[in-house]
Amino acid sequence: MLIFNNQRELTAYLASVSQNKATVGFVPTMGALHQGHLSLLQESVARNPITVISIFVNPTQFNNPDDLAKYPRTLEADIAKIKTVSDAIIVYAPSVDDIYKGHPFSEHFDFDGLEHQMEGQFRPGHFDGVGTIVKRLFEIVKPNFAYFGEKDFQQLQIVRKMTEKEKLPVTIIGCPIFREPNGLAMSSRNERLTEAERAEAAIIYKTMTEAKKRFATQSAVAVTQWVKKVFAKHPKFTLEYFQIADEAALLPCIRKNKTKKYRAFIAVFVNNVRLIDTISLN
Ligand code: PAJ
Repeated sequence: MLIFNNQRELTAYLASVSQNKATVGFVPTMGALHQGHLSLLQESVARNPITVISIFVNPTQFNNPDDLAKYPRTLEADIAKIKTVSDAIIVYAPSVDDIYKGHPFSEHFDFDGLEHQMEGQFRPGHFDGVGTIVKRLFEIVKPNFAYFGEKDFQQLQIVRKMTEKEKLPVTIIGCPIFREPNGLAMSSRNERLTEAERAEAAIIYKTMTEAKKRFATQSAVAVTQWVKKVFAKHPKFTLEYFQIADEAALLPCIRKNKTKKYRAFIAVFVNNVRLIDTISLN
């Protein structure tokens, strides 16, 4: 398995192998890999002769220094997991300096308002950090296809918007959420939950599926009120937001419009661990 720590060597290698017009699939990650990440890799490997995964805990997208410090860094275990998908996957695990050259700052982006909703309201600067790193990684890896999880649906839409606005020559592929057997969306942050918390966190997906059922006959406001009540009854969980929004503009649903596709979005704290989830509603 090829592992590169610097972009010069990676780009030289990719230039040498991609001359025969083989497509390059790319899966950007921050490591601490789980089945969700591996499902993106499987998708890329099935469709592209060359697959690159990046493992980089991007400092510019963390609005909370404690979260950045605590983010798990498990490169060896990650590499072992990548091998279970394919030995031919190319790993790019750069240092902060290799990416930012001593200047770990974000570019400022206009994502046509997508950045002001939900995660944007609670994580100031987060999407500028995501845009900065994804754009830089696209410039380095030059993928034909890049795979992102619907788990971070707002991020997926923002990356699509950036690609479109900046006319980047890459097709963005959204992939379904991979869940634990109890429904909890897989996340590197789940590792920070106790076993009991992890079991109880099943309430998030359970509430989301019930919200979906209710949305068939009730208004977004009524469903939102119901979700707030559910979490108010569970002192271990602090609901940060629950929002029903249309998939394209991510604007809150005031009155249902039959031509729009809606999605519910949630962020919940379990102790200090922030979990997010989303479900398509129609
Ligand atoms: P990270 O949280 O490591 O996630 C990497 C990719 O895996 C993202 O596209 C995310 O949506 C996807 N993913 C995470 N959990 C998933 C699950 N349970 N099922 C399916 N896909 C899942 O997202 C980031 O890193 C960063 O913001 C990044 C894009 C790498 C930029 O730094």
